[in-house]
Amino acid sequence: MFNKLSFKIGILFFVFFLIIEAFLFFTLYSNLANDRIEEVMENLLGRGNTHREVLERNFQTSTIEHVAIMESASDFAVVITDEAGELLVNSDPINKEMRHIIDRVKEEKIPKNGKIVEKRWEETAFIATDSPIVIDGKHEGNVFMFADTDNVKKIIDQLSDQFLMVSIITISLTIIVIMFLSKFIAIPLIRMKEATEQLSKGDHRVALRTERTDELGELANSITKLSNDLEQMKMARNEFLASVSHELRTPLTYLKGYADIISRDDTPKEEMKEYTKIIREEAEHLTYLIKNLFDLAEMDENNFTIKREPISLCELTRTIAERVQPAFEKSAIQFSYLCEKEFVIDVDPARLQQVIFNTLENARKHSSEGGRVSLSVKQKEDDIWIVIQDEGEGIPPEDLPYIFDRLYRVEKSRSRDSGGTGLGLSIAREIIESHGGTIEASSVIGKGTTIRIRLRKGGRENV
Ligand SMILES: Nc1ncnc2c1ncn2[C@@H]1O[C@H](COP(=O)(O)OP(=O)(O)OP(=O)(O)O)[C@@H](O)[C@H]1O
Ligand SMILES: [Mg+2]
Repeated sequence: MFNKLSFKIGILFFVFFLIIEAFLFFTLYSNLANDRIEEVMENLLGRGNTHREVLERNFQTSTIEHVAIMESASDFAVVITDEAGELLVNSDPINKEMRHIIDRVKEEKIPKNGKIVEKRWEETAFIATDSPIVIDGKHEGNVFMFADTDNVKKIIDQLSDQFLMVSIITISLTIIVIMFLSKFIAIPLIRMKEATEQLSKGDHRVALRTERTDELGELANSITKLSNDLEQMKMARNEFLASVSHELRTPLTYLKGYADIISRDDTPKEEMKEYTKIIREEAEHLTYLIKNLFDLAEMDENNFTIKREPISLCELTRTIAERVQPAFEKSAIQFSYLCEKEFVIDVDPARLQQVIFNTLENARKHSSEGGRVSLSVKQKEDDIWIVIQDEGEGIPPEDLPYIFDRLYRVEKSRSRDSGGTGLGLSIAREIIESHGGTIEASSVIGKGTTIRIRLRKGGRENV
C-alpha cells in the first residue's frame, strides 16, 4: 500500500496542498485577528472620545457621574481623573493594573484625539485608552477607558474555533480530491502494467483504448502498438517456420524415395547411378539451404558483422565477371561487363561478392539461350550503382514486391533447374542494408529484370 504509486502521488499532493493551505490560513488568520483587535481598540477609543466631548461641553459633577453610571452597565470601565491625575469617578472598581496604567500615562503627552495607551492584550488584563479633556485650551482632566482583555481573547478564541472548523473541512476535502486525483493518474498506469504482464505471458492482443492525449495516453498507445508488432512478429515467425519445415521436408522426401529405389534389388545399375546423383544434388541443396538459413539467423541476432575495408570496386566486380563468364557461356547467354571508372569504397568484399554472385546467378537462371545479361558499375552524384540487367522471363508484377522476402520464389514448385532456396535476395538485402545501401528490382514480364544496388560513396553513411 505504501509503495503504491497512487499513495505516493497522494502524499506528495497532500503535503504540497497542506503547506499552501497552512500558509494561506495563517495569513488570513493573523490579518483577521489583528483587524478584530484593532476594531475593539478603535471602538474603545471612540467611546472615550465621546465621553470626553460631552464632558468638555459640560464638566460638572452630575455629568461626570452620569458618564460613570452609563459605563457601569457596559462591558467597559471608565475612569475620569482631574488634570493632576486625581480620581474623580470610576464606573467599576479600580484595581492595581488600572492604577498602574493611569499613573504611567500621567507623564505622557496625549494628543487631543486620545490615544490607545495599553494594547498588549495577550499579556495584560486590560487594554486602555486615554482621551484628555481640554476646555478653552486648558487641560482639565482625562477620560480613561478600560476593556477586559478576556473579551478580546474570547473573540480571538471564537475566530480560532471557526478557523479550526474550516481547516478540518478543507483538509478533508483536500484528502478526498487527492484520492480521486491520484487514482485518476494511477488507474491508467495500473491498466498498462496489467497489459504488459499479459504481453509477457504471451497474450499479445492487448488493446489499451484511451482518449487521453497526454503522456499517459501516448504510453498506452505505444504499448498497444508494441503488442500489435509482437503479434505480427509471432505470425511472421510461425509462417517462416512452416515454410522452413516445408523446404526441408521436400528434399528429404526425395532423398528417402530415391534411397528406397536404390536399395531395391531389381534396380538397374544405370538408374542407380542416376538416383545416386540426384541424392547427392539434393544433399547439396539441403546443405546450401541450411547455410543460408544460418546466415539469416545470425543477421537476426545481430551477430552478423560486416568487415569493411577500402577496396577497388572495379577490381572486385571484374573478378566476379571473370568467374561467372564460363557459366554464361555454357548457358549460351551473352554476358557483358562495364565499370565506368575506378571507385574505392569501404565495404565487406566477401559479402558484396556474395550479393553480386547471387543476382548474376538469378539472372542466368531466368534467362534463356541467346539472351543478354549485363553487370555495370556507375557513379551518380554521391552514390555508386551496381546494376544487373537481364533479358529473361521477368517477374510478374504481383510477385515483384515479395522477391526480397524469405523463402519467396515465383516458381513455387521446386523445379530442379532453377531450384533455389528463395533466400538469396533476402540475404542480399540484409547485407546491402547493413552497408547503409539499398537494393531494388524492376521487371517487365517477357522483357527482363533489373536489379539496382545503391551504395554510398563513403560506404559508411546511414549505418
Ligand atoms: N533475374 C530474375 N528474373 C526472374 N525472376 C527472378 C530473378 N531474380 C529473382 N527472381 C525470382 O525471385 C525469387 C527469389 O530469388 P532469390 O535469389 O531470393 O531465391 P532463389 O534464387 O530462388 O534461391 P537462392 O538464391 O537462395 O538459391 C526467385 O525464386 C525467382 O522466382
Ligand atoms: Mg538466387
